[in-house]
Amino acid sequence: MTEQPASPYTGPTRVFSGVQPSGALHLGNYLGALVKFVALQRQMECLYCVVDMHAITAWQDPRLLRAQTREIAAAYIAAGVDPSVATIFPQSAVPEHAELAWIFNCVARVGWLDRMTQFKDKCGKDKEGASVGLYTYPVLQAADILLYKATHVPVGEDQKQHLELTRDIAAKFNHDFDAPGFFPLTEPLIEGPGARVMSLRDGTAKMSKSDPSDQSRINLTDDADAISKKIRRAKTDPLPLPETLDELKTRPEADNLVGIYSAMSGQTKASVLEQFAGQGYGVFKPALADLVVERLAPVSSEMRRLMADPAEIDRVLAAGAEHARSLAAPILAATKEIVGFWPAA
Ligand code: TYM
Repeated sequence: MTEQPASPYTGPTRVFSGVQPSGALHLGNYLGALVKFVALQRQMECLYCVVDMHAITAWQDPRLLRAQTREIAAAYIAAGVDPSVATIFPQSAVPEHAELAWIFNCVARVGWLDRMTQFKDKCGKDKEGASVGLYTYPVLQAADILLYKATHVPVGEDQKQHLELTRDIAAKFNHDFDAPGFFPLTEPLIEGPGARVMSLRDGTAKMSKSDPSDQSRINLTDDADAISKKIRRAKTDPLPLPETLDELKTRPEADNLVGIYSAMSGQTKASVLEQFAGQGYGVFKPALADLVVERLAPVSSEMRRLMADPAEIDRVLAAGAEHARSLAAPILAATKEIVGFWPAA
């Protein structure tokens, strides 16, 4: 991909991120995304989207999709996003996303999309049977972000390549249309021990909604008993916890559990090791289970409370969509003007 110059963008800072309503959220989504959403909301203007248009790139039962969208909004709020401070909205309620995505489809190159590893992972051997939407998914993601000229995007590590593509699209648009600094070169916010939470069954595979084994992940809706059992049964090696981070790096399952402890407790991995080095999993796993239960229990009970009152969630989503549209419309209008589209009446 292209080498990019420093961005001459001088507009305000703004945060955008999104989660797909394609199934129950897990600990990876919570630590990789939601916790960061909360931390950022009082530092910058934040927009948190439920990306239902991305979700339908794989089949979604229409009878469930709207409820799943509400559930993600409930998860945002239950995790601590305050809808009076941050904007929470469904992507499909702001049609400007699709319009900008079309323009970006004509900016992005097929060669760029051919290199996207997530498309290859998701369609596996059946490329012929994948939707065109799945192929062009990262272009819609770039449109989500740049429709608001977002400067910062909190995500897990698996989104790094999509964020690089977003920067490439912004840079190529600015260059091709001679509009220096029109779109910002967005910064991903990925750092932290929760950026890549791995499967509890395999320390080399990402914790994922699509893993057929429910034992591989902790869902935000799991009760205390299920969480403890999953952690107790998590795959490990026979050795006690190591003294050093270097040794930890060679032991993926131990590294993952220490990483989860670190992200959940706010301690560094080094200080977790200081506390548990030389101890077996018989000591470490129950301590980890207690910590995860203590942190997630209020989130899942708040989610249940919110889901019992869908009208309240719908009000949040409607107000969020209205605000999002008011930010998006002038940016899309300016983009269309630059492209040379027929002016609005
Ligand atoms: P989604 O719904 O697949 O994931 C939502 C968020 O969870 C993070 N995540 C993880 N973080 C740490 N460890 C894991 N095992 C793990 N699994 C998932 C993801 O990185 C993501 O932050 N393409 C996006 C949705 C999207 C988006 C956007 C994000 C659409 N438009 C614009 C940011 C900006 C996605 O993967 O969603």
